[in-house]
Amino acid sequence: MKSIAMKLAQVFAMSAVLSVPAYAAMSEADVEPYLKKQGCMKCHAMDKTKKGPSYKKLAEKFKGKPDSEAKILKNLTTSPMVKLEDGTEEEHKEIETKDKGDLKAIANWIMTR
Ligand code: HEC
Repeated sequence: MKSIAMKLAQVFAMSAVLSVPAYAAMSEADVEPYLKKQGCMKCHAMDKTKKGPSYKKLAEKFKGKPDSEAKILKNLTTSPMVKLEDGTEEEHKEIETKDKGDLKAIANWIMTR
C-alpha cells in the first residue's frame, strides 16, 4: 500500500499538470467550432443569409479596410442593436471571450471568408 505522503505527492503533481495554462490564442481552425458553440451560426451561415448576413457577405464588406477589425470587434463586444432579416431589432450577441488574441483571430477569420 502506498503511503499517504506518496498519494498526496501524486495528487499535487497531477493538479500542477492540470493547472498549467495550456493556453494560446485561438488558431484559425479553432474559430469556426467556437462560433458554433457561441450560437453565431443560428444567424450567420457561411454563404447564405439567415437572420443575419452570411460570413461571405461580411467578408466582402470588411475585406481590405483598415478599420474592419475594430468594427467587427465593436459589434461583438458592445451589444449594439441590429436589425434581423425579418425586420425585428435586437441587441447583437456579445461574444464570450475577452482575450485579445482570440478576438483578433475571430475578426480575421470573418474578414477572410
Ligand atoms: C440573433 C441573430 C444573431 C446572432 C446570434 C449573431 N448575429 Fe451577428 N449579426 C446579426 C445581424 C442581424 C447583424 C446586422 C446586419 C446588418 O445590420 O447589416 C449582425 C452583424 C454581425 C457582424 C457585422 C457587424 C457590422 O458592423 O456590419 C458580425 C461581424 C457578426 N454579426 C458576427 C457575429 C458573431 C461572431 C456572432 C456570435 C458571437 C454573431 N454575429 C451572432 C445577427 C446575429
